[in-house]
Amino acid sequence: MSKMKIGFTALFTLILFSMFAAFASAAEFVPTPSNPAPGINVGTIDNNGNEATHRTHGNFQNNTNSCGNCHSTHNGDSATLLKFEETESDLCLTCHDGTLGFYNVEKSSGAGVFNSSHNSSSMHNVGTVAIDSAPGSLTANEEELQCSSCHNPHGSVNDRLLKTTVNGKTYSTKAIDLELVEDPAYSAINASTGPTGLKIYQSKGPVFVNQDLPDVPQRVYSNFCSTCHEDYLKSRTTARVDGHYTHTTSSYKAGRNCASCHYAHGTDITLLKDTAGKTVADYRKQGWSQEQAEAYMKDISAGGSAIKKYTNMAVCWSCHQSTAKIDTPPVAGGNYQGKPTR
Ligand code: HEC
Ligand code: HEC
Ligand code: HEC
Ligand code: HEC
Ligand code: HEC
Ligand code: HEC
Repeated sequence: MSKMKIGFTALFTLILFSMFAAFASAAEFVPTPSNPAPGINVGTIDNNGNEATHRTHGNFQNNTNSCGNCHSTHNGDSATLLKFEETESDLCLTCHDGTLGFYNVEKSSGAGVFNSSHNSSSMHNVGTVAIDSAPGSLTANEEELQCSSCHNPHGSVNDRLLKTTVNGKTYSTKAIDLELVEDPAYSAINASTGPTGLKIYQSKGPVFVNQDLPDVPQRVYSNFCSTCHEDYLKSRTTARVDGHYTHTTSSYKAGRNCASCHYAHGTDITLLKDTAGKTVADYRKQGWSQEQAEAYMKDISAGGSAIKKYTNMAVCWSCHQSTAKIDTPPVAGGNYQGKPTR
């Protein structure tokens, strides 16, 4: 995944903007309804004559300009007329690399992180691997794994643009139910943009309880991940197609659902938690040195950190204190409250 910028006018302006911002030392970009992101100008009157902000993804109005952020009518770099440097993910990263101020996928979020500059990093290597290289894949698909393998840039029924058909399989008519709260850092623009306009949310992660509702298929999150990791969707007592067994993953319940143990994008040492649910930053506050905290949190697994939320196998130890308890007492010193409760 290359992080190269694309050089068309809007984004060039936007790069200049961010350079200027850097020189003007922390003069943060403040989004407004007609200028929601650096270099992006949108109309504020919608199809019904009401004032509303146009969004980049979806809610396209008659007078939209959004298409031009990503497509070039005559000079595209792909058959889908996209503008990018090397791979499609470069296009997404022109805005989602921190340029916008919000939704920076190179920084921690509910989806984890795309960033290989820290210790213990692992991620979905978009732009470099084939979809059927997913562990547990049962269907041939040599298409490249891209941001748009999981997201629909034109909008979806899901607030995080998640597709309901992934890798050719429709896993649900309703996408993953996420708990989203308005980002307090952007309360001014959130208050100014009307119900269908630009709103900036923080994700608290998937909602597990609502998936009990009769019209929502259970295990939605695991079903989503298993569109590619097909052979990983199983209860513990049923062998996988390849004959191996897996910890129960075919449940919407906390701890038995991909999202309890894994991020969707990637992980690294700044995000990894221990059994107490603490991070390197928490131990720093507690007086540990950076070296000490990192050496403690480092994921030393042979297979790497595997996009986990917890370091090594901390997640197992936190849960098997109360659920299916193991026959050995916890060691003094740490506390063991990190069990995913939702
Ligand atoms: C944020 C970037 C972005 C914006 C904005 C955007 N597109 Fe796309 N578009 C894409 C990507 C990425 C693909 C390739 C999707 C894929 O391969 O799954 C695509 C594919 C398409 C396709 C091919 C069919 C399809 O759905 O795969 C059409 C047609 C299209 N876009 C039209 C539009 C129009 C019209 C607009 C504006 C109303 C628009 N796009 C806005 C990123 C964007
Ligand atoms: C021109 C800048 C730009 C580009 C390029 C861009 N985005 Fe966005 N993205 C935004 C903005 C602005 C928002 C805030 C919501 C909105 O305007 O729709 C956003 C929001 C999102 C969200 C959060 C959900 C939401 O709708 O609020 C996701 C997920 C996302 N983008 C994915 C992508 C993907 C995948 C690509 C590449 C195909 C991409 N973006 C390319 C500007 C961009
Ligand atoms: C394997 C599927 C997958 C791939 C590949 C993927 N995403 Fe996501 N993305 C998700 C899921 C799932 C979420 C919601 C996670 C949550 O909040 O629990 C998400 C959330 C997001 C968000 C919102 C982040 C926030 O601040 O809450 C953005 C923006 C985004 N993705 C952009 C991208 C971009 C850009 C790429 C490619 C570089 C990408 N995604 C690749 C699955 C994926
Ligand atoms: C569109 C297909 C696709 C979807 C959907 C998908 N993955 Fe993957 N995943 C892959 C591919 C391809 C690889 C191997 C890629 C690589 O080596 O980077 C992979 C690798 C992984 C790995 C191993 C990473 C490592 O460092 O060894 C984990 C863990 C993982 N995925 C978890 C998930 C979870 C959790 C979800 C749901 C949020 C998910 N995947 C959804 C395609 C997918
Ligand atoms: C949030 C709770 C939770 C987490 C996290 C968790 N487990 Fe489990 N585990 C369970 C439950 C509940 C069962 C029994 C239900 C079942 O059969 O799947 C179970 C069953 C098991 C069993 C079979 C036990 C038996 O009595 O036959 C093993 C072994 C196991 N887990 C190991 C692990 C490992 C290794 C990890 C870390 C990767 C882990 N567990 C993480 C809840 C959890
Ligand atoms: C209870 C926690 C837990 C749950 C639930 C869970 N995983 Fe994992 N996963 C792990 C751990 C721990 C590892 C590291 C494997 C190891 O060291 O044995 C891992 C590794 C992986 C890998 C890397 C390849 C491998 O097999 O080691 C993939 C891919 C993966 N998980 C996908 C998934 C998917 C997809 C789901 C949901 C269907 C899921 N995981 C659910 C804890 C979990």
